Amino acid sequence: MTNRGATAPRAADRRLCGVSRFENVTTLAGAVEGAVVLDLACGSGRTTRALLERGPRLVHAVDVGSTLDDDLLLDPRVRAHITGLEDLPLATGSVDAAVSLNAVEHLADVGAHLAEVHRVLRPGGTAVLAHSDWDTALFTSDDDALTRELLDRFVAHVPGGGTRGDGFAGRKLLRHAARSPFAVESVHSWADPHRRFDEDSVAWKVATGILAATGDDPALTARAAGWVEGLRAAARAGHFLFTVTDVAVVLRKHE
Ligand SMILES: C[S@@+](CC[C@H](N)C(=O)[O-])C[C@H]1O[C@@H](n2cnc3c(N)ncnc32)[C@H](O)[C@@H]1O
Repeated sequence: MTNRGATAPRAADRRLCGVSRFENVTTLAGAVEGAVVLDLACGSGRTTRALLERGPRLVHAVDVGSTLDDDLLLDPRVRAHITGLEDLPLATGSVDAAVSLNAVEHLADVGAHLAEVHRVLRPGGTAVLAHSDWDTALFTSDDDALTRELLDRFVAHVPGGGTRGDGFAGRKLLRHAARSPFAVESVHSWADPHRRFDEDSVAWKVATGILAATGDDPALTARAAGWVEGLRAAARAGHFLFTVTDVAVVLRKHE
């Protein structure tokens, strides 16, 4: 799961097997006990939660929306900032480690964002830049051709309402990293298996995005609704599987 050229899996890669992407990205951030860390585009705070498990002194949770879970808003170890990622309200060199999960596809200027992350990190600090590569999504379905058609539609779809999206964001992370002021320390990828397909599941969330992407084609929307029913039935029968490849690049600010 790394491109470092070693044949045997490194300890960091072995630790990435069988746990969630939120735990994976925090593992890659290294030792954060007692540290000041930054969760970039925190959303409801799933990465923030995983970071807190590791005993940081403070987590800055930054997002343009105010969607952080209430218990995290009240946690004295969490400081929420409602702002864009291009202009962080943090002092230069004030952060030990930063984690960005499924954020860069939303940004108009990833270069400006990475320059800003580089500014707020201390020399020697780590940034983990991670993203799912949606074009690699795998669904167990009785209709493989329709799955392919729907996924193609999904990754080509640009969400409305000013939101950006990129179905190929994972594979582009190294390109962003190469253009940034950071040194690339290592590259990782994994695909978590998800067997649930209910309203609280990851697979359901992605399927919802797929349905939305058919919005301008009523005939395809109707077929997609039948496809979702098929996924539901597969989950009930115990043979449903969803995975997507996540890519993570570990970046280091020079000492
Ligand atoms: C797919 S969610 C990822 C949330 C979280 N990192 C996770 O993996 O659960 C993307 C998040 O990016 C936030 N976002 C989009 N554009 C942003 C921007 N320019 N600055 C800060 N946050 C942004 C959205 O509000 C949303 O919470």
